[in-house]
Amino acid sequence: MAPMRSWPEDRVAFGGDYNPEQWPRNTWTDDIELMRRAQVSFVTLGVFSWSWLEPAKGEYEFDWLDEIMDRLAEADIAVDLATGTATPPPWFSLAHPQVLPVDHDGHTLWAGSRQAWCPSSPVYREYALALTTQLAQRFHEHPALAMWHVSNEYACHNLPCYCDTCAGAFRVWAERRYGDLERLNDAWGTAFWSQRYTAWEQILPPRRTTSFANPTHQLDYHRFGSDTLLDFFRAEKQVLGTLSPGVPVTTNFMTTTAFRLLDYHQWAPHQDVVSTDHYLLESLPDPRAELSFSADLTRGIAGGRPWLLMEHSTSAVNWQPVNRAKAPGQTLRDSLVHVARGADTLGFFQWRQSLSGSEEFHSALVPHAGPDSARFREVCALGEVAERFGELVGSTVEARVALLWDYQAGWAANGPAMPSQLLDYPLTGRLLHAALRRRGVTSDIVHPSADLAAYDLIVVPTLYLVSDEHAQAISHAAEAGAHVLVTMFSGIADGDDHVRLGGYPGAFRDLLGVRVEEFFPLPEGETVALDAGVAGRGGGEGRIWSEDLYAVDAEVTHRYASGPLRSRPAATRRVVGSGTASYLSTLPDEESLDGLLGDLLEAAGVTPAAVVPPGVEVVRRRSGERSWLFLVNDTDEPQQVAVTGHDLVSDTAVSGSHTLAPGGVAVVREG
Ligand code: GLA
Ligand code: ZN
Repeated sequence: MAPMRSWPEDRVAFGGDYNPEQWPRNTWTDDIELMRRAQVSFVTLGVFSWSWLEPAKGEYEFDWLDEIMDRLAEADIAVDLATGTATPPPWFSLAHPQVLPVDHDGHTLWAGSRQAWCPSSPVYREYALALTTQLAQRFHEHPALAMWHVSNEYACHNLPCYCDTCAGAFRVWAERRYGDLERLNDAWGTAFWSQRYTAWEQILPPRRTTSFANPTHQLDYHRFGSDTLLDFFRAEKQVLGTLSPGVPVTTNFMTTTAFRLLDYHQWAPHQDVVSTDHYLLESLPDPRAELSFSADLTRGIAGGRPWLLMEHSTSAVNWQPVNRAKAPGQTLRDSLVHVARGADTLGFFQWRQSLSGSEEFHSALVPHAGPDSARFREVCALGEVAERFGELVGSTVEARVALLWDYQAGWAANGPAMPSQLLDYPLTGRLLHAALRRRGVTSDIVHPSADLAAYDLIVVPTLYLVSDEHAQAISHAAEAGAHVLVTMFSGIADGDDHVRLGGYPGAFRDLLGVRVEEFFPLPEGETVALDAGVAGRGGGEGRIWSEDLYAVDAEVTHRYASGPLRSRPAATRRVVGSGTASYLSTLPDEESLDGLLGDLLEAAGVTPAAVVPPGVEVVRRRSGERSWLFLVNDTDEPQQVAVTGHDLVSDTAVSGSHTLAPGGVAVVREG
């Protein structure tokens, strides 16, 4: 047998989840033919195939997979082969009911959907590793094999699990973390409400309690869940590394801001290549801004290297309250935003829209309507563009702004009994990112431990929990010349979620030269007026949050102009070394935020990727001397942009100026 093949790199890899077991053999023949037509270059096989691969304990049926892998090899389509361990078969759940996950209230989550397994279960791990071993032995040299796809969207449905197995595993984890109970008691602050532990067996998962649970206990349960699943991933990866060396291994993350159960910064170093899934969150005021945020976050998690978009949708999903089809042209537009921000692979869920089952109304590359449809024609057009994008594969995204994101800070910030439930962790970051995006400025969304030296502007949104080390790194960056913007509810707590005393924002008090004594979060819909500020722009308003801010050693740039804080500082700036440190104590309206960031960008000398009309998203990818300008028209009007080069989307030369159709996209190789 010929050795496995490499991942397509002569084009932006294009394809998606393929579930041939849902269809008869004659459909397989059509599938391959249609895949060729759409220029599909990869598929992910076997994600939910366990019950087809192992219909009874230890009895493996791989012939069907052989057959489809052979057909795909013949068609030169690369396979991202799943280990199939995302969902066990019914025979397994019946034989091992103790593996079923248990919720907060002690209710068993039964089999019959997917991912019905406890993350701590040694029994599950044993069976999963056995299947992985069998698959790796059988397929490691298959000529279609280009990548291993471990499990699927870890934690999507089975974390946190509160079962007794998890209780035992959590005690082991806690003992490893703290060594002795006194240290744990200290960290969890158990002097409060008579919670002091005197034996390890007293420690439980944070199951439903009478009132608020202990926040550090909850924070640690998040850490434990993420660590436990990472350990499981690594066990599967190890099997693959031994039996199928040389084939890259990944698992599909969910870097949407709606999912935050895993600390992907800790997971990323264990991936041969970072891959993720993204679906538009239609309930947000601006779902496409969130798409861009998520893509920039994925790039940050991938350390700036190109990443794989493993799944997104050609059109509607089926799991939001109302699932509207995408408008004509939107498949292309959404996909290319991911490429603009660093994706080198465009994958979809799924190839052919299902006939039955829980996702029968989820869109696909081949819709229910069949290939003679507008959607499939758009898919084919995208396949063609992906082919032309070969020249930009491996290039990187230009950014001089960093926006910090830390899953652990988010877990703590959204803990129980906080000053306001309206300050959802991603909100501040998303609003600031959106303001930068509106200005044509790309930001890298990175962990506070990232090397900050390359950035001229560093945005620190709601970094509630921060270590001394990370706080210092941010201060050093300012001293070295960066402009730093810290927002409300940052620097409040240390890694144990203990409040830093002496005034908020604790860890950043000295850097910012400010001190806050009390919070005045605003109820839903209530706003507070802001004055025109030193820049003299018309006064705007703040929402969600306000606080009684003292400028101890900082210039006041904006003041509150109404409410109990009237005439008190709302935003400040301080010169630090050769940089500055600014503080923002409320969430200003769009216009005020744009003005504020505009001033900071100007001070930092950061200019947009290109000057574009409002509503046009712009990002640049670069490789050595070559660069590609991505232009995405989010408006309903044609828009003109000054640019010269070759547009890879329309495959036409551009000289001086390019007109983008309403909702249109251009990717111009510059020069
Ligand atoms: C996730 C899963 C897929 C599918 C899609 C639907 O991304 O990995 O199997 O359920 O959601 O949007
Ligand atoms: Zn469990």
